Amino acid sequence: MDLISVDDLSDPLLEELLRRAGHWATHEPDAATRHLTGRQVVTAFFEHSTRTLMSFEIAARRLGGSVTRLPVEMSSVAKGETLRDTALTLDAMAPDAFVIRHPEPGAAREVAGWMATPVINAGDGAGEHPSQGLLDVATIRRHVGHIEGLVVAICGDIRHSRVANSTAKLLTRLGAEVRLAGPARLMPEGHDGPDGIDEAIGGADVVMMLRVQRERLSEDLGDAPGEYLARYGLTGERLSLAKPDAKVMHPGPMNRGVEIEDAVADGERSLIRAQVAMGVATRMAILEMVTGEARAR
Ligand code: NCD
Repeated sequence: MDLISVDDLSDPLLEELLRRAGHWATHEPDAATRHLTGRQVVTAFFEHSTRTLMSFEIAARRLGGSVTRLPVEMSSVAKGETLRDTALTLDAMAPDAFVIRHPEPGAAREVAGWMATPVINAGDGAGEHPSQGLLDVATIRRHVGHIEGLVVAICGDIRHSRVANSTAKLLTRLGAEVRLAGPARLMPEGHDGPDGIDEAIGGADVVMMLRVQRERLSEDLGDAPGEYLARYGLTGERLSLAKPDAKVMHPGPMNRGVEIEDAVADGERSLIRAQVAMGVATRMAILEMVTGEARAR
């Protein structure tokens, strides 16, 4: 199977993935459970990445698999080869999974249509980022204990965020109340209400901040240094509006001093590094799932 959107997951599959992610967060694979032994995972990232790329590759290796990374800058993409021909070429090499990040929303879905290899969407422009959605939910489950009934504020650059798309869908599906808030210019089309950051954070159990994706903005925000943090960022003062034991999350990379203050990012309520750790465990679960299916074909 492919994993392109969190909507592709049935309830039992979602539950199994989260359970398995929780398992790998606390267990080391052994000879019997290195389920990717003899399997080949190809990664192709057409956009920058640290966490997602590295954790997919580390996850594959922890499960005994091999990883081959398409060096995009050195590939025939630079000679003008289309995405379709690139996908068909890699498919002909018969890997067991193909992990792709691409700037165009919908690109991963298109690629999955061209390839017999199971395709995992590692982020398609402002579309979806299912592995991040899953790791966010798995992190909350592990560190808060449950999802149902929680109030989760997702704040910042919602408009450009594939993370907000995937994470909000999963949280809502699992019974959380999701509050989206950000500067009007960074909210999705059609959302022209007040920014409401303080209202969103008020009484929240989890506050998830998002990076201002300046590379996707056609013009600069025009904010003075410190202005964004003061108006929309997560400062210690703003965090005090949330529940006293509220957790802080951020998918990374952080713009420190912009959407989040250092003391909050590094504070004891921060789950930011726990998210990274859960990222490896979650991607192990995803790779097991898609390659397990491949084996059955
Ligand atoms: C995010 C992404 O690339 O969508 N990062 C990530 O995968 N952890 C968020 C971002 O780039 O701001």
